Amino acid sequence: MCGIVGYTGSRAATPVLLDGLRRLEYRGYDSAGLAVIQPTGGVAMRKEVGRVAALARAVPPDLPGSCGIAHTRWATHGGVTQANAHPHADSEDRIVVIHNGILDNSEVIRQRLIADGVTFRSETDTEVLPHLIRTFYDGDPVAAVRAALAEIRGTYGLAVLFADHPGLLIAARNGSPLVIGVGEGESFLASDPHALVKYTRRVIYLEDGELATIRPDEIATTTLQGGGVNHTVEELEAVYGSEDKGEFPHFMLKEIHEQPESISRCLRGRVQPREGNARLGGFDLSPADLVRIDRVCMLGCGTSYHAGMVGAMAIERLARVPAVAEIASEFRTRNPIISPDTIHLAVSQSGETADTLGAVKEVQVKGGRVLGVVNVVGSTIARTCGAGVYIHSGPEVAVASTKAFTSQVTALFIFTLMLARSRSLSLHDAQRLARGLMNIPEFVRAYLASPGPIPEAVRLLTQARYALFMGRGVSFPVAKEGALKLKELAYIPCEAYPCGEMKHGPIAMMEPGRPVVVVVPDDEHRERTLSNMQEVRARGAVLIVVHTRGDDEAAAMATIPIAVPATDPVLSPLVTVLPLQLLAYQAALALGKDIDRPRNLAKSVTVE
Ligand code: G6P
Repeated sequence: MCGIVGYTGSRAATPVLLDGLRRLEYRGYDSAGLAVIQPTGGVAMRKEVGRVAALARAVPPDLPGSCGIAHTRWATHGGVTQANAHPHADSEDRIVVIHNGILDNSEVIRQRLIADGVTFRSETDTEVLPHLIRTFYDGDPVAAVRAALAEIRGTYGLAVLFADHPGLLIAARNGSPLVIGVGEGESFLASDPHALVKYTRRVIYLEDGELATIRPDEIATTTLQGGGVNHTVEELEAVYGSEDKGEFPHFMLKEIHEQPESISRCLRGRVQPREGNARLGGFDLSPADLVRIDRVCMLGCGTSYHAGMVGAMAIERLARVPAVAEIASEFRTRNPIISPDTIHLAVSQSGETADTLGAVKEVQVKGGRVLGVVNVVGSTIARTCGAGVYIHSGPEVAVASTKAFTSQVTALFIFTLMLARSRSLSLHDAQRLARGLMNIPEFVRAYLASPGPIPEAVRLLTQARYALFMGRGVSFPVAKEGALKLKELAYIPCEAYPCGEMKHGPIAMMEPGRPVVVVVPDDEHRERTLSNMQEVRARGAVLIVVHTRGDDEAAAMATIPIAVPATDPVLSPLVTVLPLQLLAYQAALALGKDIDRPRNLAKSVTVE
């Protein structure tokens, strides 16, 4: 979702800004723009609908100027048009702003400014900012930005240029991440460290309620009101910047194939098969703390919510502790009851999802405990939670999450093992589970090396006007994840249902030729799932069945049987999800869709 890049130094700003935008493309966007202060005075601005490549073509290659800002927009207020793309400027194009987030009171301010004679050029909430800053500007840029922000309600990560102050970038943050890159005689700004790594690994994370004045040789941070703030310069993790597709045509396929290694990284040093136990150092929970937990609540969105569902089911089953997964946006808006003995886990790949962050803050404000299960090191959710674990997937670039899902599930299984061991799980059963977990990377590798009849299943799905996914127990969230992937990537209408619920609705959709994807590992629900398969088959549906290798009965009922390695039944989501990832990938490929950047979606959803 929206990206910010800024540069001030001695090199030409435009190539740095365009390069930074390209590195943020993976987040999803619909238009792009940049502004560079000109040596002759004034600001040069360009905006384009579509890709960064279109913007690059529109910008003169030798555009002078060594201080500028650039933005990728994901439309919220106002359609996808050139006028609505950022940057936005005051009427004289002397004060220029880019902004991520949503300004809640923009309409009131807009009407007031219009009454005062200001003409607006876009439909965006952001455009009020440069005009408002202009009303306070009397030569002191920082004072003008501060005064304007004092009137603003809403979320922002923003950057401001003043034509009168070449070399100066002003940045402010409230709810939308910003990171400042510290170079030698040059400084950078971005909404995501990925944009910076080529130039510097030394960064300062701006916190909510802070404002930064950024010059080539000097970075100063204060509170929005002007109070002192001590910032620390941190070194970026080595994983940043390691993204390229290698031998793969798409990041998604690369990330699917990285799963044996990413799951191993998540397990490394954390599971002790001999002791039948596990350790998640970041959680800092002693056995005495673990036995006091009376309930576990997972918070997440999209794929991360599905991982939370798997985790909650595993916890209830093995640790016998009540556990639920909640969609973070619903949780935060319904004034939830928070018990001090409930442990909340905020599950997020990016660590920046606005709704998950909102849910974290809701728990904290009510005195509850929330720990992060996050991929991106140093992200806002990781830092807001204070404690938590990293899933160590490595950078995930494709918008559709794959390796982060399996690593989230792995981390939640590790937690399940700890919690269950502190309760009723015997040493023997815990050892079996721990060994089962340690074997998963090998099973994943084996499946990916020989994935079965995916192309045949894809032929059925790509011709379908509707597809149903179903599963029971831990296979239901897997079915949901499979349907989400297919819808996100191939735009095929589909939904996921628990097998038992299928009779209460989707069965009406069954007719000859309808594809139904069933996830049926060899677990205690298998028999009943086979019955449900009979029910849809009797109505002419064609079954694509993900089953445990060797389950001939399940395979025989399928039009397309897809076998996965046998695992401990609870751990099966780590292998049953793999064919569903491949189905979505191959279906999108067959239909010629933009696999790594599906339409309208964003990798990191930083607005509510
Ligand atoms: C977006 C992405 C999904 C992701 C969800 C939650 O919708 O497109 O792939 O699952 O956000 O993101 P998070 O970073 O919090 O896991």
